[in-house]
Amino acid sequence: MRILVTGGGGFLGTAVSNALIARGDTVIAFDTHFPEVRNTSPDRYVRVPGDITDMAALAQTVLTHKPQSVIHCAAIVGVLSSIGSPNNIVRINVEGSVNVFEAMRIGGIKRCIHISSEEAYGAFRTDRIDETHPLEPVLPYGICKATVEQLGRTYRDLHGLEVINLRTSWVYGPALPRDRIPRNLVMAALEGRPLHIPHGADTAIDHTWVDDWVEAVLAALDHDKHRYDVYNISSGQACTVTELAQIVSELIPGAQLSVGAGLYRHGNQIELVKKGALDISRAEAELGWKPKYDIRRGLAAYVEQMRTSTQHSVD
Ligand SMILES: NC(=O)c1ccc[n+]([C@@H]2O[C@H](COP(=O)([O-])OP(=O)(O)OC[C@H]3O[C@@H](n4cnc5c(N)ncnc54)[C@H](O)[C@@H]3O)[C@@H](O)[C@H]2O)c1
Repeated sequence: MRILVTGGGGFLGTAVSNALIARGDTVIAFDTHFPEVRNTSPDRYVRVPGDITDMAALAQTVLTHKPQSVIHCAAIVGVLSSIGSPNNIVRINVEGSVNVFEAMRIGGIKRCIHISSEEAYGAFRTDRIDETHPLEPVLPYGICKATVEQLGRTYRDLHGLEVINLRTSWVYGPALPRDRIPRNLVMAALEGRPLHIPHGADTAIDHTWVDDWVEAVLAALDHDKHRYDVYNISSGQACTVTELAQIVSELIPGAQLSVGAGLYRHGNQIELVKKGALDISRAEAELGWKPKYDIRRGLAAYVEQMRTSTQHSVD
């Protein structure tokens, strides 16, 4: 298959592009920025530098490269950036997504896997929530995700598009570009630096290992007939920031990590709303997908891969 991956130069876009190429698909990666490292299969990987706010560029891309489906990852990511520049995030995350849907219409493409976020829920009403939990996002990032989900339904009803929304929890892996948990904990421990996270002991978050997330996206992409247009994607278990620090300390002896009381804060500034675990039974039952990594196994893989890459760069 030929798949258009918007945000194909980013953390998750790159991970899913690599998996698609590895199984024989062709990726048309559309992004404003690409990492320097080249993909190993240039014949099945087309880089298209472009901006999703540029409707003409998107239309040209689908008409030239003729993708059969879209995985829509392009976005301004993160709650803090959404607060700092709400007009920018609405323009890129909402208007840009509408442009993606319009381009699909122009190119006759039916299916889009839209990477939504648990931020669309707002504050969790209980410790574990499923997809029927109300959408009550409180900050621009989550509001944009919920809006794009709803716009996808408009395109379904008016134009026959099939927009499948994956409400993703916090994904981690060696290429995670943001300085947030668990990256900051792992890096401090590996570098022998003490790290105190001032707030977070009372926040439990569901973290997803990147390989599990990739498999969920492929399962949603390949699924023959979707009965639902929304799936929670996560590990299915939440752990507190203190537990996270404890596991990292067990994996990296000598780590000096500590976490202060209260709720975790985005960038040490904005208190998180209540979070918890995502109920992933719908994705498991419908897509036949099951995460393979709980947080302990995922962090062990993370530490191992970081050690290996550091070793290589030293060599
Ligand atoms: N990483 C997570 O924990 C997580 C959790 C939930 C949802 N998501 C969603 O997954 C998607 C990918 O996130 P990520 O973690 O890979 O972030 P990322 O920042 O690494 O990737 C986003 C990509 O989008 C690109 N982009 C931004 N504006 C663009 C524009 N105007 N035109 C074209 N490309 C543009 C960026 O250059 C970047 O490469 C996003 O939609 C994000 O909201 C991520």
